[in-house]
Amino acid sequence: MIWVLTGPPGAGKGTQAMQLAAAMGWLHISTGELLRTNIQAGTPLGGEAAARLDAGMLVADETVIAMVAERLAAPDARAGVLFDGFPRTLAQAVALDEMAERLGYLPPRAVVLKVSPETVVVRLTGRRVCRAAGHPYHLVYRPPKVAGVCDVDGTELIQRADDSPETVARRLEVYEAETQPVLQYYRDRGRLTEVHGEEKPAAVAEQLLQAANG
Ligand code: AP5
Repeated sequence: MIWVLTGPPGAGKGTQAMQLAAAMGWLHISTGELLRTNIQAGTPLGGEAAARLDAGMLVADETVIAMVAERLAAPDARAGVLFDGFPRTLAQAVALDEMAERLGYLPPRAVVLKVSPETVVVRLTGRRVCRAAGHPYHLVYRPPKVAGVCDVDGTELIQRADDSPETVARRLEVYEAETQPVLQYYRDRGRLTEVHGEEKPAAVAEQLLQAANG
């Protein structure tokens, strides 16, 4: 089974995907995290992607699709996969359907976390993530036990470069232009579930578990 968790930047995809994948025994694949790992490691892919992430623009479809195809073909993906932040364009959605069919998965299903642009801005400007693995926190809504330190791996918490107000505004524009058509793609095929992302994290998690088990 392949699930796609989508929604605007800051909707809570990363927060929810880690828990949901663990609960369902699925592999969590975040294309944003894969790209940031490549940037930190100084790979050619990371070099190509860095300026796009910093500007709040999408990385080229061919690059992201090739990265995902490689990850999806690995043996640890066979128990089920939860994508977070992929697909983000129609070309990516079509490519994922083709990959799923080729690898013998059922047609991917999508869940969208619905939140307002105002909520996005509050969540992203207050977000901090750990340097090692990107575990997400919020200064108000989800503070770490020790200020500035990740509860999970003890590494320093930092602010993502693309969480500045200007870049968040650009990311929201890109979401409307490029990713809203992806929602319609899944809706037209009866493969989209909508979840209220404005509720408390535990209530959102409950809705997601129901969708995944339903
Ligand atoms: P990516 O890393 O995927 O960023 P994003 O989609 O913009 O999403 P975010 O990680 O910002 O937010 P989230 O929804 O995960 O929210 P979170 O759980 O952290 O992509 C980054 C970049 O990589 C893109 O801009 C692009 O350049 C590139 N890229 C990635 N995928 C690509 C693709 N497929 N194609 C091309 N380019 C690609 O939560 C946010 C905050 O809110 C946190 O502080 C959290 O604690 C808090 N919070 C979460 N839930 C709640 C809640 N219910 N109530 C209160 N606070 C909450």
